[in-house]
Amino acid sequence: MKERIKTMGQQAGRRSWAEPWKIKMVEPIRMTSKEERIKAMEKAGYNTFLLPSADVYIDLLTDSGTSAMSDRQWAGMMLGDEAYAGSVNFYHLESTIRDVYGFQHLIPTHQGRGAEHLMSQTQIKKGQYVPGNMYFTTTKLHQELAGGIFVDVIIDEAHDPNSEHPFKGNMDIAKIDKIVKEHGADSIAYLSVAGTVNMAGGQPVSMQNIKELREYADKHGILIYLDATRLVENAYFIKEREEGYKDKPVAEILKEFAGYSDGAWMSGKKDHLVNIGGWVAVNDADVADKLRNLVVVYEGLHTYGGMAGRDMEAMAIGIKESIQDDYIRARVGQVQYLWELLDNWNIPIVRPYGGHAVFLDAKAFYPHIPQDEFPAQTLAAELYLDSGVRAMERGVVSAGRDPKTGKHKYPKLELVRLTIPRRVYTEAHMDVVAEAVKEVYEDAKNVKGLKMVYEPAYLRFFQAKFERL
Ligand code: F0G
Repeated sequence: MKERIKTMGQQAGRRSWAEPWKIKMVEPIRMTSKEERIKAMEKAGYNTFLLPSADVYIDLLTDSGTSAMSDRQWAGMMLGDEAYAGSVNFYHLESTIRDVYGFQHLIPTHQGRGAEHLMSQTQIKKGQYVPGNMYFTTTKLHQELAGGIFVDVIIDEAHDPNSEHPFKGNMDIAKIDKIVKEHGADSIAYLSVAGTVNMAGGQPVSMQNIKELREYADKHGILIYLDATRLVENAYFIKEREEGYKDKPVAEILKEFAGYSDGAWMSGKKDHLVNIGGWVAVNDADVADKLRNLVVVYEGLHTYGGMAGRDMEAMAIGIKESIQDDYIRARVGQVQYLWELLDNWNIPIVRPYGGHAVFLDAKAFYPHIPQDEFPAQTLAAELYLDSGVRAMERGVVSAGRDPKTGKHKYPKLELVRLTIPRRVYTEAHMDVVAEAVKEVYEDAKNVKGLKMVYEPAYLRFFQAKFERL
């Protein structure tokens, strides 16, 4: 008889864990033929954002708004109080944010970029610097539209896909201090701290780092605002990787971390396990007042800010589910599972594993394709053509052009993101994805790059079109 293959848990020398839920409803997905995929990809201009989702088999484009809600959240949808003003669900959400994050004043928004807009417009004066830990596309754009000058102050290790630093999201205080020494503390709008850092590979910020940032900021009278979009995942990494946090519940770690900041903006479409929604929350009553004044112009009244009552209810319930230790372990554990499969096959990926996605290193896949022939865009297209798996470019296309010179920005990281929706796919889906990536890697030297044939003015990666060289 054949020897039984070991489970992943056994291979790691421990007992296996399983997701703390079972499946009550399913959504059929369809595998397409190679011919169908070639046609679909050509029509989409080699941009996975432009593919109809009906043509996608396993959709790893994003973890944003793609979560499966729980039966409790769906039940909560029926409790939607669709009042224009003072909805019951707003107060439930407000008390949940106070309880879980500790922020006093909550202003809901339609999604994360709505919150970024309000925060940037109220907190940045024209010409001020906004030091951040690497950039995120929409965050940076809103900071710049408000007249701010974004400066990347993430530690150098974050730009090296092979560095094993456990907290590659950390900010380098020496880089912040350089701005303060040159231009004065008043030249800084606020420190823009994202946990985890999406573009660096979902890499976390340590508790030690946020504590040191707080100390530095207090000394110079600078504010700290968090991008809290994936802060629950960040808290899980602190539990896993940082000395002294192993036995603390993730909920406690999250609240401690948020406590070192002055406020946050949030895309609820990620950590909060909902399909739409966001918020901005602060402790200072005057800042809250400014945000409340602006929210009615762009989003909706300050007690709904673009969200339906039912959406606020689903979010309030989702927040409580997201901070359960067994949930978040399974969530990040699934990312780790896919990461380990690919790592075992020596496929070039960003190290160590991050919170929401596995990032393929497109420069290492295609060393023969120069960056202005878009290696990551090419790789995302190849993966779809092979197997109907949809991923996302995070490289030169996402980085956009330098507003001064009009030339492409060439980020060190040229990545393809395999982003894992929360509570949606199984281990078997991850196996299929891993095999597809392996196939594409083995065929890498036969692949040619792309040329851009259409380029929109803002956030070009969403709508740009390409042709094969
Ligand atoms: N901040 C971070 C770190 C994000 O990842 C996103 C969205 C936003 C802000 C903006 O939030 O989409 O609700 O307006 N990230 C998505 C992604 C789009 O696929 O990573 P939003």
